[in-house]
Amino acid sequence: MLDLKKNFPVLRENPDICFLDSGASAQKPDYVIDFVADFYRKTYANIHRGIYSLSWNSTVLYDKAREKTAEFLGVKNTECVIFTKNTTESINLVAYSFGQKLKEGDEIIVSIMEHHANFVPWQQLAKKKGIKLKIAYIDKNTLEFPVENITSLITDKTKLIALSMCSNVLGTISPFVEVCKTANKKGIKILLDGAQYMPHHRINFTELGIEPDFVVFSGHKLCAFDGVGVLYGKKEVLEDMEPFLTGGDMIESVSIEESIFAPLPNKFEAGTPPIGAVISLLKAIEYLESIGLDKVEEHETMLAKEAIKRLKEIDGVHVFAPEKISNGIVSFTIDGIHPHDIATILAEDNVCIRAGMHCAEPLITYLGQDSFARATFYLYNDMEDVEKLIKSVKRCKEVFKL
Ligand SMILES: Cc1ncc(COP(=O)(O)O)c(C=O)c1O
Repeated sequence: MLDLKKNFPVLRENPDICFLDSGASAQKPDYVIDFVADFYRKTYANIHRGIYSLSWNSTVLYDKAREKTAEFLGVKNTECVIFTKNTTESINLVAYSFGQKLKEGDEIIVSIMEHHANFVPWQQLAKKKGIKLKIAYIDKNTLEFPVENITSLITDKTKLIALSMCSNVLGTISPFVEVCKTANKKGIKILLDGAQYMPHHRINFTELGIEPDFVVFSGHKLCAFDGVGVLYGKKEVLEDMEPFLTGGDMIESVSIEESIFAPLPNKFEAGTPPIGAVISLLKAIEYLESIGLDKVEEHETMLAKEAIKRLKEIDGVHVFAPEKISNGIVSFTIDGIHPHDIATILAEDNVCIRAGMHCAEPLITYLGQDSFARATFYLYNDMEDVEKLIKSVKRCKEVFKL
């Protein structure tokens, strides 16, 4: 069992807080905070633009973050790792730039369990260009995602599959490996949203033998600072795309008549990037690797399983999770109490969860609900947090005299 609260200042400073909202954003360890604070205190300067040692140092760290991210994903081309603001921006970049290649009559497949970040950009693109948006459904009863539910939608008009690796509401893992293999074979582009997967699982795309065209995730959910997101793309696909933003740093040369864009990755990183946040991503990946992502997965799954078991023992509580879980996401409802009231009562007990649609309104509607309470466990949570959650859920029922 991991025992890591001591590494996280917010959890140390607030020992009464039971933090179960890492699915929204993870806490940051000293290892990350201290390094970045030192960077700002002692050696900060903008990257790329100076040959003096401070700027050189920033550039080296920034480049190291890119190398580390490529290694973290198990991909070879470091220059194909693009730093963005977050997952949302990474997906919008693809929708804008790759979207220019799509035309009326083409088809895009997304799943019903997508976060709005991987739904709305495709919906809007489809509306604008007359593209058909097809929805792959999960099994309503088991909350599992059979691969045929998505592969059966593929036609010769399918140009892109945009698929979440893990649902932020249910913890359902999509059959992304099989779907990616099929897409690779058929020459269909595939984007994998790893926002809820990367922080919790070891992955190596080369070892898996799959070649996603795009992979996106956010730093803030894996113990890095907010402000940095990742877009990894296949080299030939990125090279063939127009830039998303134009301006400084993404340019080879500029004349009054025209501009020649810089090669990857700069072509997609216009302007001063979030340097400190990118460096925090380097340190966060180092930190997670020092713990071991297999251990992180095992630990949070063990806590979630215990929480699910105990929640199910409480009369009127319904847990929405597939039978086989492998992460710390636990969504639930209580008969007769709105999830917002659950979250409010839990907050009185210093139990921090989230309630609502979780930016996945199509999924919540499909499941016939109007919102969920969601607790998410991560590497720094422990059995005491499970106890606090259960105790507070029981108190909810008392407050409502149920
Ligand atoms: C599966 C999934 N995709 C995308 C996002 C969007 O991430 P961000 O807000 O960092 O852009 C989230 C955030 O919760 C998510 O859970």
